[in-house]
Formats: sequence, C-alpha cells, structure tokens
Amino acid sequence: MKNIIEITHPLVQHKITMLRDSQTSIKEFRELVKEISTLMWYEVTRDLPLKEITVETPIASAQSKVISGIKLALVPILRSGLAMAEGIESIMPSIKIGHIGLYRETETLMPKDYYCKLPTDIESSEAIVLEPMLATGGSVCAAIELLMKRNVKDIKIMSLIASPEGVKLIEEKYPDVKIYVCSVDKGLNEDGYIVPGFGDAGDRMFGTK
Ligand code: URA
Repeated sequence: MKNIIEITHPLVQHKITMLRDSQTSIKEFRELVKEISTLMWYEVTRDLPLKEITVETPIASAQSKVISGIKLALVPILRSGLAMAEGIESIMPSIKIGHIGLYRETETLMPKDYYCKLPTDIESSEAIVLEPMLATGGSVCAAIELLMKRNVKDIKIMSLIASPEGVKLIEEKYPDVKIYVCSVDKGLNEDGYIVPGFGDAGDRMFGTK
C-alpha cells in the first residue's frame, strides 16, 4: 500500500468512531461526514504551491503567501460524495465541483454512468474524487476512467474508509493516483459492504433504505 495516506489525527479518528456507531442520527452523521472531510482537506492540500505577495496590514507592508498556480476541482460521486464536497466548500468556497452519477448494471454488475457534468477546464485541473467508502473500488475506477477520458492527468481519491481490496485495485490499475483515507478496515463482506465500516453511507446520510 504505497499510494495511501492514512489520516491518523486524533480528531479525525474520534469522529470516525462516532460515524461507525449505529446509534448516530442522520443529522449527526451528515455533520460528521462534513467535518471529517474538512479536516482531511488540510492533509490533501498540504503540498499546494504558494507565491509571495505584498499585503498592507494596519501596521506595515508584509510579504505573505497565497495559494497560486494550481486549479482544483472536487468530483463527488453521487450521492454520498455530496456531503464531503459540502465540508470542503465551507473552507474553499470558490472551488469548482463536477458531479458523477453511477449505477450498477443489473446484468454485468458493472458501474455505469448516468450523469457526468465536469468543469470545462477539468483537463488542466487536479481532480479530487470524493467517495466516502472505497469498497470494491468499482465506482472509483469508473470515475477515474471518466476523468481520464477528459484528459485529466492529476487525480486523487478521498475516502473516509477503505477496504484493502479497493485500495489494492486502485493501486494496481492507477499507480499515480494517491488515496487519502481515515481507515483501511478488515475487508468486504459477501454483499460488498466494508467490515466493520459504517454501513450504507447514502442510506445513513439521507435516511433511505
Ligand atoms: N458503500 C457503502 O455505502 N458502504 C459500504 O460499506 C460499501 C459500499
């Protein structure tokens, strides 16, 4: 697992435990996903390029740094990636957001896109795919393929929890893609859920079943 960055910060780990708890309400669950994504973003953006500018403080001129020379785009996978995007937007309100909707084809069981709307300059942006659960890796692979078709060269994955199977698949197929996660859990069960995981992210976030 060479391309994986595990966010071990105590605040993040504490909130992941609260997410796992089956007693956590819909409201708390949504808030936790947003908060954890915001905290993870700190690590994802650690190496962004900076340039120095001059700014006038009430006291004097200061040489100070701003982010420069990079375009970022969030790409939440519908629907559970949306809360992750909301968390990140709260600290980067101008960030562009593309959306990818996928469903599982009944015959082949392969993910198929039903919606894909990306920023027009996506090919010159770094795209960060948001998917709370990197489970089998099928949806994330489909999202990466859609981005690659649009000539996106720089792709990162942000997931709250991953399975070792999902991580292995992404690492083998896309050795240049970095994966940011808070935990790599034990594995997948026969229904493709992460164990122990936190259940169905979409259902817990939106109160559906
Ligand atoms: N999708 C989810 O929402 N949960 C899992 O455990 C796996 C895939």
